[in-house]
Amino acid sequence: MKILAFEVREDEELYFKKYADKYNCEITLTEAPLNFETLPMANGYDGVSILGKSHLTADIEDNLKASKVNFCSTRTVGFNHIDIEHAHKIGLKVANSNYPPTGVAEHTVMLILMSLRNYKQAMWRGQVNDYSLSGLKGRELNSLTVGIIGTGKIGQCVIKNLFGFGCKILACDKYENDEIKKYATYTDLDTLITSSDIISLHTPLLESTYHLINDEKINKMKDNVVLINCARGELMDINALIYGVESKKIGALGLDVIEGEDGLYHEDKRSDIISNQKIAYLRQFPNVILTQHMAFYTDTAVENMVKCSIEAIHDFVKKGDCPTSI
Ligand code: COI
Repeated sequence: MKILAFEVREDEELYFKKYADKYNCEITLTEAPLNFETLPMANGYDGVSILGKSHLTADIEDNLKASKVNFCSTRTVGFNHIDIEHAHKIGLKVANSNYPPTGVAEHTVMLILMSLRNYKQAMWRGQVNDYSLSGLKGRELNSLTVGIIGTGKIGQCVIKNLFGFGCKILACDKYENDEIKKYATYTDLDTLITSSDIISLHTPLLESTYHLINDEKINKMKDNVVLINCARGELMDINALIYGVESKKIGALGLDVIEGEDGLYHEDKRSDIISNQKIAYLRQFPNVILTQHMAFYTDTAVENMVKCSIEAIHDFVKKGDCPTSI
């Protein structure tokens, strides 16, 4: 069995070796994403492993099939970079990853706490020996209401983590989870939006969730609301976020992902001219924390991303299906 892995970082290499040995497969690694330029590299492989910068459009999928590559596994949980409908139509089998939700959930809690305690400003001051307190008075999580949109694996884990802080937790999802009812109260989206001091998104990016957070929703929120996003940037309309911060309706933003981050995230752009004015503008506010799409980035997750990706292609080839098939 031959696998070509795209977008491989150095820190993934030892895991590719470990699981290629375990599953007895021949594996080739490249830093490049899968795109029209790199597509010919996939000739002769059974499957490809990708991350989020490899956009599996219908055209790319057709070309993979034409090259007899029948399997693809993304090492990510999210799969908005893959045209699933077309893959099903042409019989290209696709799987995503099921690495543990704990890392993203912990990052979410970190962004909530950093936002509530004005930690970006405190950090700036520390750099220049300014140890003053003025303007840094925070709010305590135990006295606040947190709204969690999406109670899949990550949302559930965030709720369980938050429970220990003693805050009130509201949740909203199409599918209610009985166990989560021990920790949170399910409400409709409107009630969550109007009643929460902190709102955190844990929903996939779909046509129906694109710009879930927009001007209209922000206007209905409590004054000084804290918004957190460790899911996908396009769930929040960046123009609405900018307006919300400028107008002081939004008290703080903690974003691990942001609309328009493609081409920026995971890249060192220090010497480049960055043309995305909106991201540059938003990130300079004292109450806006941006992290570089790194909520997932822990030792546990990275190993599991690689393991799951190889296992998926192995199972597709050997058994015809796999548990993480999408
Ligand atoms: C995901 O797993 O969905 C992520 O966002 C991880 C990242 C490497 C794209």
